[in-house]
Amino acid sequence: MSSISVPGGEDVFQFRIADVIAKKRDGLALSEQEIRHVVKATMTGQAQDSQLGALLMAVRLQGMNPEETLTLTREMVASGCVLKWPEEWSALLVDKHSTGGVGDKVSLALAPALAACGCKVPMISGRGLGHTGGTLDKLESVPSFSSQQNPEQMLEILNSVGCCIVGQSKNLVPADKIFYEMRDVTATVDSLPLITASIMSKKVAESLSALILDVKFGEAAQSSTIEEAKHLAHSLVNVGVSLGIPTIALITNMDTPIGRCVGNSLEVIEALQCLEGQGPDDLRDLVLHTGGYLLWLCGRAGSEKQGAEKIAKVLSDGSALQCFRKMLEAQGVKPDIARSLSSSTKLGETSHIEELKVPKTGTVELIRARPIAEVLNALGAGRNKATDVINHSVGAQLLVRVGQHVEEGSPWIRIHYEKPLLQDRQRQTLQNALSISAQPAFIPASLIRDVIYAQCKKEEYGASVRREREIS
Ligand code: URA
Repeated sequence: MSSISVPGGEDVFQFRIADVIAKKRDGLALSEQEIRHVVKATMTGQAQDSQLGALLMAVRLQGMNPEETLTLTREMVASGCVLKWPEEWSALLVDKHSTGGVGDKVSLALAPALAACGCKVPMISGRGLGHTGGTLDKLESVPSFSSQQNPEQMLEILNSVGCCIVGQSKNLVPADKIFYEMRDVTATVDSLPLITASIMSKKVAESLSALILDVKFGEAAQSSTIEEAKHLAHSLVNVGVSLGIPTIALITNMDTPIGRCVGNSLEVIEALQCLEGQGPDDLRDLVLHTGGYLLWLCGRAGSEKQGAEKIAKVLSDGSALQCFRKMLEAQGVKPDIARSLSSSTKLGETSHIEELKVPKTGTVELIRARPIAEVLNALGAGRNKATDVINHSVGAQLLVRVGQHVEEGSPWIRIHYEKPLLQDRQRQTLQNALSISAQPAFIPASLIRDVIYAQCKKEEYGASVRREREIS
């Protein structure tokens, strides 16, 4: 029997961790006290690694109901500090989380665009692992950019600029770090309640006014089917709303890279194009809609459409670009570099550039993101383990887009790389990523396939969630 003292002199519950494991193993729901006990025992070191591993596996196999998932999230938040912001920002604090994709540079344009619309964006992002890219790696292709900003520095940057994009601070949800490392080595990463609690605990600790989730599905996403993505989205949104944060999720396709560029420095340049009011349509569409929904959710726009119009305005009038430059300067980039950064800036070059040719005349049906990302990772653009060093300049430019008619022999992809040299089998993998059809290809208008809200009707959503937050 283990007992723990709870900060603040709250009641002390006594449970045997082995009994909690047995209960979950047998498919029963855990009580609030049991979940609290497990998280606290994890933090105090009273729970053995073997016990945590067994419990995570029991959760992976038996699942958790929505109440358990909510409690786990809340207890994980309580394992560390939460960010505190000035009272007058209480309706302005917004953020976005993406479940990860290829060529996803939406956050780079979105955060400054929202700041230019008057929001405060304390964006906490991650690094790339496996085939998906990370926002911090992209930003670190700008010389001297520092993602390490403590809460006081974040407050200062939000005050002066309106947005920052930073790494996870170690005091925020420390239980997640312990659980995540353990999930990684116990084959329990792909558990819906554990993913939900992991993502949402970190967002709740940011003390947000509104949150949007981009839950991706497809060959290059964590969820391979749209049903799986919707299931995760409902779980995330329910926890967000239950904890008082107006939250919605976009269900977006991730078969083909977003935009035309994959690779850290190339993606920053493409984000700059978007911030200059240009750039690829699919990227701009995601930035407009994601920003539009957030402005509506936090009450700064009457509808998602009006919100998207506001985002379009700050992209075209240069104010979002100014916020991006100011954010870079505030996060360590030299003023002369930050202030002149544009899509024509060179952010590093590679010694090798090679173009691959279209194998037959027809219409581009699909450009598969996953094999492209895997080859680029092998060339040094990404990492397979957290300690791998990456080359920010390695990447690819897509020279064609889905739906386009192409002629045999014309270039379709340009690879930027250093040694190790591109191997024939990698060239073949890249060539297999391009599907050419003899028929005209269907081009969906947007990557967004669905929008997931919590219980209430769309028209009432933002206001209703805000009301609940005020009452609770
Ligand atoms: N991102 C997280 O932070 N946690 C997960 O479990 C999955 C994605």
